[in-house]
Amino acid sequence: MATFRRFNPDDVHRISKCNLDPLTETYELSFYLQYHAKWPSLFQVCEDANGNIIGYIMGKLESSPEVYKVSEHYLPWHAHITALTVAPEARRLGIGKILTEQLESAADAGNAWFVDLFVRKSNARAIAFYERLGYSVFRVVKDYYGDHATDPFAQSEDAYDMRKPMKRDKKLQHIRENGAIFEVDASDVW
Ligand SMILES: CC(C)(COP(=O)(O)OP(=O)(O)OC[C@H]1O[C@@H](n2cnc3c(N)ncnc32)[C@H](O)[C@@H]1OP(=O)(O)O)[C@@H](O)C(=O)NCCC(=O)NCCS
Repeated sequence: MATFRRFNPDDVHRISKCNLDPLTETYELSFYLQYHAKWPSLFQVCEDANGNIIGYIMGKLESSPEVYKVSEHYLPWHAHITALTVAPEARRLGIGKILTEQLESAADAGNAWFVDLFVRKSNARAIAFYERLGYSVFRVVKDYYGDHATDPFAQSEDAYDMRKPMKRDKKLQHIRENGAIFEVDASDVW
């Protein structure tokens, strides 16, 4: 049986089932604790009957710094998925979907315009997952990653910046069709 609950600091000792996955980023300890301290409702885990963490989502609520308000790349108040991962043995059971929906509820509660995330262009599985949940590509961030997940000779990989509008965006102002043709530099993303 799987249980969903908020992350607590002890969980960092029990996330290795998820983090051994090559597409899952492992961060400094302080990074997890910062998310826990600042946005506890956007940091949820799924644990199995033995107390292993078999999935988690970590996110934040923010907007671009005020100084960039005149920029075309300015991001209004939104939620961002920083990490989402489900342990390989627990995939296709609906865990990723439940975790994402929990974060979306927190985003709506926080009056966010949309939820966004970055995903490697080669990560077809995650892209299919997000599309199924109603996310679409908003833009391509060139060379966002400093390595390539599938090509050991490539020095970098592009990211899709994907978005899903939240309840606040009644007129769907913050998504667009054909987002894959809009390319930006990594320096335009803040
Ligand atoms: C992407 C990921 C989080 C999906 O988690 P999951 O718990 O397996 O997903 P769910 O079971 O909730 O899937 C929901 C729907 O998404 C789609 N989906 C999920 N995995 C898919 C896959 N491998 N291929 C195609 N569609 C997929 C399906 O439509 C699925 O519904 P269905 O099983 O009824 O067909 C998981 O594969 C993972 O952890 N990947 C490695 C880390 C990663 O890439 N994270 C995202 C980085 S941004």
